[in-house]
Amino acid sequence: MGKKYETPLLDELKKGAFPSFVTEIEKAAARSGMPDDLASMASDLLGHTELCFKEKVTHWKHGGIVGVRGYGGGVIGRYSDIPAQFPGVAHFHTVRINSPSGFYYQADALQEVMDLWDKHGSGLTNMHGSTGDMVMLGTRTEHLEPFFAEVSSRGWDLGGSGSAMRTPSCCLGMSRCEWANIDTMAITNDITQHYQDEMHRPAFPYKFKFKVAGCPVDCIASIARADMSVIGTWKGDIRIDQAEVKEYAKKMNIQSEVIDMCPTSCVTLSGSELKIDNSQCNRCMHCIARMPKALRPGTEKGATLLIGSKAPIVTGALLSWVIVPFIKMEPPYEEFYDLIGKIWEWWDENGKNRERIGELIERVSFPKFLKEVGLDPHPAMIKEPRRDPFFFWSEEDLIK
Ligand code: HEM
Ligand code: HEM
Ligand code: SF4
Ligand code: SF4
Repeated sequence: MGKKYETPLLDELKKGAFPSFVTEIEKAAARSGMPDDLASMASDLLGHTELCFKEKVTHWKHGGIVGVRGYGGGVIGRYSDIPAQFPGVAHFHTVRINSPSGFYYQADALQEVMDLWDKHGSGLTNMHGSTGDMVMLGTRTEHLEPFFAEVSSRGWDLGGSGSAMRTPSCCLGMSRCEWANIDTMAITNDITQHYQDEMHRPAFPYKFKFKVAGCPVDCIASIARADMSVIGTWKGDIRIDQAEVKEYAKKMNIQSEVIDMCPTSCVTLSGSELKIDNSQCNRCMHCIARMPKALRPGTEKGATLLIGSKAPIVTGALLSWVIVPFIKMEPPYEEFYDLIGKIWEWWDENGKNRERIGELIERVSFPKFLKEVGLDPHPAMIKEPRRDPFFFWSEEDLIK
């Protein structure tokens, strides 16, 4: 189709060192061989976006529910409010495809999805959206069922959207990383399979995201992005290889790079021997990450569960905070699912429409949450100074 519009404002975004979405949309617009009704999608997207920038208002509108039969989510409907001017983007729905655990794709499987998207969509995709899914950007309503039929027959499924469990995601864990304390990929897959209904048929007050990290380095950034963060950790002592410590001493300054950086000041050197007061260690991973050959996590593996992080929409951003300091994460994950069930039930009963679990806890208080889902208070739950969950009292105590 090629370029149809002058886009001076968008052209600015092509400048500089970084890749530009404008360049990519232009490449898509320049391609041939797309179906007739989709051929002008990318070029009209450029013109449409330029106009939105120029007028400083959006010409996209949320246009009711679109989707595929049997699913309440997975497709995010978008329409242009000036379809006569830009017919190519009159419809511009996004389809979420559930990403595999750890984001591993076989090249030929990925090629297959992309070929189908050239046949049934704009050819534009966003890998990966913050939800984790493969985000297929822009198609027309009448292409949704045919696209879904083709991808699902090849073993793919839609991801979550709306007030549902969102596609869980994880770091690549044990598949490539020696620091993984839990099998993040197996856990993520199990959560996905276990909660198919909760993912495809939105029935929550709002979205709920699981992200699973193998260790506190948290490469999936679960602590900032997940209503429920599952972070691998260990019990017991950090394993130390003193011979390797000596090797590190030759090439780095252990005092300034490790000892002085330990947040709980529990690492010391006596002579050339490294010592760790494990009772004070908060398992931040810093020392292990700096000296991976000399230090390894302890041998008893499990996870810390944290709750509540989210980006600012209704209220401000939250980071997750601890609700279970240590839990074994081994199949069939009974204790874990049992707790999730209680948390969801409590959220369902108490949450307002579009209130995330973290916001609800902030509103009604953390002690109330702990009590009603049956968790015991623990020092690791302290989220910030002056928010002390150990202070429990009820109205009756006051009257007495
Ligand atoms: C003022 C305009 C907009 C606002 C305030 C807005 C807000 C948001 C919010 C809050 C989310 C997260 C929703 C969720 O996860 O439940 C989201 C996601 C998304 N929005 Fe928008 N949006 C706007 C315009 C658009 C437009 C114009 C498009 C596309 C034409 C769009 C496409 C998307 C997509 C594809 C996602 C999912 C991204 C992902 O999964 O990573 N949005 N938007
Ligand atoms: C049973 C006795 C005590 C308990 C259960 C207790 C509990 C706590 C807790 C939960 C915190 C917040 C910790 C954090 O921010 O991570 C804290 C902070 C603090 N505590 Fe205590 N504490 C006790 C006794 C004391 C005493 C006796 C002192 C001083 C003489 C003290 C001084 C402080 C100070 C200065 C802070 C930091 C406050 C801030 O930065 O806002 N505490 N305490
Ligand atoms: S979070 Fe930990 S286990 Fe997962 S990839 Fe990062 S360092 Fe490895
Ligand atoms: S893991 Fe973190 S807190 Fe623990 S000893 Fe190492 S640097 Fe200190």
